Amino acid sequence: MAKIKSAYFCQSCGYESAKWLGKCPSCNQWNTFVEEIIQKPSAAVPEWKGPGGTSRVAKPSAIHEIAYTEESRLATPDHEFNRVLGGGIVPGSLVLIGGEPGIGKSTLMLQLALNLKGKKILYVSGEESEQQIKMRAERLSQAEPAKDGTGVFILTETSTQNIFKQIEILEPDLIIIDSIQTLHSAHIDSTPGSVSQVRECAAELMRFAKETATPVFLIGHITKDGSIAGPKILEHMVDTVLQFEGDRHHVYRILRAVKNRFGSASELGIYEMQGVGLREVSNPSEILLSQRDEELTGITISAMLEGVRPMLIETQALVSASAYGTPQRSATGFDTKRMNMLLAVLEKRCGFRLSAKDVFLNIAGGLRVEDPAVDLGIIVAIISSHEDISVSSKICFAAEVGLSGEIRAVNRIEHRIAEAQKLGFEQIYISKYNQKGIDPTRYTIEIKTSSKIEDVFASLF
Ligand code: TYD
Ligand code: MG
Repeated sequence: MAKIKSAYFCQSCGYESAKWLGKCPSCNQWNTFVEEIIQKPSAAVPEWKGPGGTSRVAKPSAIHEIAYTEESRLATPDHEFNRVLGGGIVPGSLVLIGGEPGIGKSTLMLQLALNLKGKKILYVSGEESEQQIKMRAERLSQAEPAKDGTGVFILTETSTQNIFKQIEILEPDLIIIDSIQTLHSAHIDSTPGSVSQVRECAAELMRFAKETATPVFLIGHITKDGSIAGPKILEHMVDTVLQFEGDRHHVYRILRAVKNRFGSASELGIYEMQGVGLREVSNPSEILLSQRDEELTGITISAMLEGVRPMLIETQALVSASAYGTPQRSATGFDTKRMNMLLAVLEKRCGFRLSAKDVFLNIAGGLRVEDPAVDLGIIVAIISSHEDISVSSKICFAAEVGLSGEIRAVNRIEHRIAEAQKLGFEQIYISKYNQKGIDPTRYTIEIKTSSKIEDVFASLF
C-alpha cells in the first residue's frame, strides 16, 4: 500500500497548499480550503497505456514532415457548432463545454452525437440513466439506427479506468463525457467533483485524446459567479473552452468560444431551444428585431458586434416624469453606469432636462450588450421617447458617443454596414471618423456621417 498523502485545495481556483489556509493567496476567497487525499499511483492501479496496451514512446519529428490538412477536421451537421470550433472538430482535441445547470449542455451534445452520421460516438453519462438518455434522444431525433455498427453508444459509468476499458473495446471516433465533475479516477482518493479528482480525470482524458487523436468533449458545470466549477486549471488544460449561456426563461442560447487553440476565440453560435431540441439560428438579426407595423417611439436599431459577428438589435427606452424625488434609472442588458453617462451627456451637452425623469432601457431578446457602438442608438431611443417622436424602422445606428457629445468611430464598420444593408435598412448613421475606411459606392444603403449628436438630432427630429 502506497503512503497516503493529502493536501489542501482551494475549491474555487484549485490552489494547492500543504496546510489549511483561511484565505486563498491566489484568488483571495475565504474558507475555501478542503483537505483532499492524493495518492501516488501504486502498482495496484493499472495505468492506461494507449491503444493495444503498449505505451507509445514519443519521438521528435521535423515540422514540415508532419501531415496535416484542413480536411482532417471533422465537420458536424451543426453549422453553428462548426463555426464556434473554428471549422469543425480537430482530431485529438479536448473541448470543455461549460454552462449553468439546465441550460441545455446535455441536449446540445446528445443532439450533435445523434446527427453525426457514420461515426462511432461514445456518450459517457454520470448524471443520467440509460433510459433517461434514451427518452431525451427520442425527442431529439427520429432517425433510423445505422446498421454498420456506427451511431451513439451510451455508457453510464463514472470510473475513468472502467471507461478506458470500454473505450478499448468499442474504439469510438468521438467521446462525450457528461460531466467531468461526476468522474473519478482510482489514482486519487478524494470525492468526485473535488479539485484533485477533476484535474486527474481531465489529465487522463487529455493523454488519451492526444495519443489516439480521438476528440473528447467534456461537459462542465458552472458556479454561480460564472466560472467553471472546480479548478481554473481545467481551462488551462483543455484546447478549447466553450460557454453555453442564455437566459433560462428566454428560448435563445449562445454558444461562445472563450478559448480556442484551433480558431478564433470571438466566435459564437446562436440556438433556439424548442420542444424537440436546439435549432440553429443562422440569421440572429431576424429574431432580435421585433416585427412591428406601426412606428413606435423610444425604439431604435443598432448594428452591434457579438465577437466578430455583426447583428442588428433593438434598443428600447422609456422616459417618463418621475413620481419620486430620486428618479429611477434602470437598464436591462446594458451597463447602467454607461446609461447614466449617456444621460449626463444629453443633459450637459444638448440641454435636455432629464434629471427629473425616470429612464428605463431594454435590449430586446434578453441579450447583454457590451459593444460601445450601440451608444448612438441608445441616445436616439432616449430622445425619441422623451420627445415622443418615432424614428423610422428603416434607420439604424452604429457609433460610440464620447463625453463631450462627439460621435466616435467604431471597429469593423464595413461588416456592420453590410449586415444592415442585407437586412433591408435604408439609412445607417455612423461617425464622420469612420468615413475614411469605407467606399460608399459599394453600398446601396445610404450612409449618414456626423461628428456631433446635435447633427444627428437635427436630421432625425
Ligand atoms: P439539459 O440538456 O438537461 O441541460 P444541462 O445538461 O445543461 O443541465 O437541458 C434541460 C432543459 O432543456 C430542460 O429545462 C428542458 C429543456 N429541453 C427542451 O426545451 N427541449 C428539448 O427538446 C430538450 C431535450 C430539453
Ligand atoms: Mg446535463
